[in-house]
Amino acid sequence: MRLTALELSRWRNVARASLSCDSRFVVLHGDNGQGKTNVLEAVWVLATLRSFRESRPRRLVQHGADIATIRAVSSGPAGTRRLQWRLEGGQRNLRVDGGPPTSLLAWFELVRAVLFVPEHQSIVRGEPAARRAFIDRAAFTARPAFLDHARDYRRVLRQKAALLRSGRADVARLRAWDEQLAALGARVAVARWQVLQELQEPFRTMHARIAGKGEEAGHVRLAMRSLGGEEAGVDEVHRRLAAALAAHREDELRRGRVLVGPHRDDVLIELNGRLARHYASQGQARSIVLALKLAELDAARARGEAPMLLVDDLTSELDRGRMERFVEVLAGLDNQVWMTTTDPAWLGPLPGENAIRVRVVGGTLKATSG
Ligand SMILES: Nc1ncnc2c1ncn2[C@@H]1O[C@H](COP(=O)(O)OP(=O)(O)O)[C@@H](O)[C@H]1O
Ligand SMILES: [Mg+2]
Repeated sequence: MRLTALELSRWRNVARASLSCDSRFVVLHGDNGQGKTNVLEAVWVLATLRSFRESRPRRLVQHGADIATIRAVSSGPAGTRRLQWRLEGGQRNLRVDGGPPTSLLAWFELVRAVLFVPEHQSIVRGEPAARRAFIDRAAFTARPAFLDHARDYRRVLRQKAALLRSGRADVARLRAWDEQLAALGARVAVARWQVLQELQEPFRTMHARIAGKGEEAGHVRLAMRSLGGEEAGVDEVHRRLAAALAAHREDELRRGRVLVGPHRDDVLIELNGRLARHYASQGQARSIVLALKLAELDAARARGEAPMLLVDDLTSELDRGRMERFVEVLAGLDNQVWMTTTDPAWLGPLPGENAIRVRVVGGTLKATSG
C-alpha cells in the first residue's frame, strides 16, 4: 500500500501542510529541528496509532492548539481510502471515508509500515526488551491481531505482578492468574516464533546484500530464547508454560515478583555463530538492523503485502557503501519508502523517476523536484 496524499494540521510544529505523495520514494530533507521526523512520525501514527518517540499523545498537538489532525489517502488492496486521525481534548478519533472504522483491525488493514530509526541500533546491542519490542512490532505488522494478544497478556501480567507485590498473594489466587497467563502467553510466544520463521531466510539474504566487504563472509541467524516448543503449536506451549508457572509458584510468592513467561524471552541474533549483541561492531550492527527491516518487507511480500518503509535520519546512520547497497535493494522492491535526511545529495540518485523531494523548513513542506 502507499499514501498518495498527506495533510497535517496542528501536528507538532506543522501548523498546516499538505503533500501530494503518489510516488515510490518520498524524501524529506532540511536542516535539523525543522520537522522532518515530525512528518515521518505522523505517517507512523497512522500505521500504528502510536508514536515512536512520544507516549503522551497530547504532546503531538501543536503548542497552544487543541486539535491535531492527520489526513491521508491510502491506496492498496482495499482500494483507495480516506483516513483521518484526530486528537481532540486528549481523545483520539478515527475516520475512514468519513465514518468510524468498523474496528481497529479494519483500520490497520489499510495502512501498514515498517520503521527504521537510529535508536534501533539497540535491537542488536541493547537489552532483551529492545529485541522483544522489535519482534512484537514485526508480529503486529504481519498480523495486526497480535496487538490484542500482546495487550491481553500484559494486562494479566500486570495484575499478577500487583498481587505478588501486595503481599496478599496465595497459591490459590496465583493459580487463577497463571491459568490465564499460560493461555495468553502461549499465543504470544507462538506468534513471535512464527514471525521469526518468516524473517529467517530473508534476513540472511538481505544481510548478505547489505553487509560490506569483510563482513561478507558473515552469516546471520535468528533464534528465540524462550521456554521452547513453539513449533509444536499453541497447545504444547500452553502446557509447558503452565508447568513452568506451577514450578515457580512458591518461588514467585517468596520473592514477590513474576519469574517466568514470554515477557522475559529474548531474540538471539547470531553473527558467525556468536551473539551479535556482544560481538558485532557498530558497522556490523547497522547492517544487521537494516537487514532485519528489509527482511520484514520481504516477508510481507511473501504474504502478498507491501507495507511502507519509514527511515529516519539516514545521513547520520549509514556510510556511503551501505547506503548504496541499501538503495539498490530498495530499487528492487515496490514498497513506498519515506525517508528523512539533512543532505539529499547523500542519497545519490534514486531508482527511476519515481521520487518526490520535499524540503522541510520550520514546519512547512515544499516539494522541490519531481
Ligand atoms: N507539540 C509541538 N508543538 C510545536 N512544536 C513542536 C511540538 N513538538 C515538537 N515540536 C518542534 O518540532 C521541532 C523538531 O522537529 P523534528 O521533526 O524532530 O526535526 P528534524 O527536522 O530534525 O527531524 C522542534 O523545533 C520542536 O520544538
Ligand atoms: Mg529528525
